[in-house]
Amino acid sequence: MLSKRMEEALNAQVNAEFWSAYLYLSMSMYFENIGYKGIAHWFAVQFKEEQDHATIFINHINSRDGKVTLMPIDKVDTSWDSILHAFEETLRYEKIVTGRINDLYTIALEENDYASQSMLKWFVDEQVEEEETARDYIDALKKIGDHGYGLYMFDKELAARTYAVPEPLSNQA
Ligand code: FEO
Repeated sequence: MLSKRMEEALNAQVNAEFWSAYLYLSMSMYFENIGYKGIAHWFAVQFKEEQDHATIFINHINSRDGKVTLMPIDKVDTSWDSILHAFEETLRYEKIVTGRINDLYTIALEENDYASQSMLKWFVDEQVEEEETARDYIDALKKIGDHGYGLYMFDKELAARTYAVPEPLSNQA
């Protein structure tokens, strides 16, 4: 069974994952609106992934006989100065998420909660990937600058992203 402290921290993370989903949906809508359908698609996949992350935490709380408590989702930005700015914000936010996952892991260690440690390991690896992807796109966008054809190709590349159910959820299927 989950300790109260672990349960509260995991519920806060459920809220943070839904907030992330909402942020990326907002980015997707923004880029759809200004004519970058590939980037909009990339953020739409990101929106789905964040909902999956919330579901992994929800399933874990339920499996451990805890109580899921859904809380209000704070507002998110609705426009960005540039494509580069949106990805810089993505990286800045994903670094915050990494810190949150690390804090959850510390709580799981302090509570001797081995099952939560095991579940959180997937998120530790996932955050490395999330930050690396955002960093790669920032590097590419800095090289492209205001070059119209470069931005057109960047949009095309992001249109190719495919959605895959995260491993912790596909294992449960
Ligand atoms: Fe749920 Fe983007 O980390």
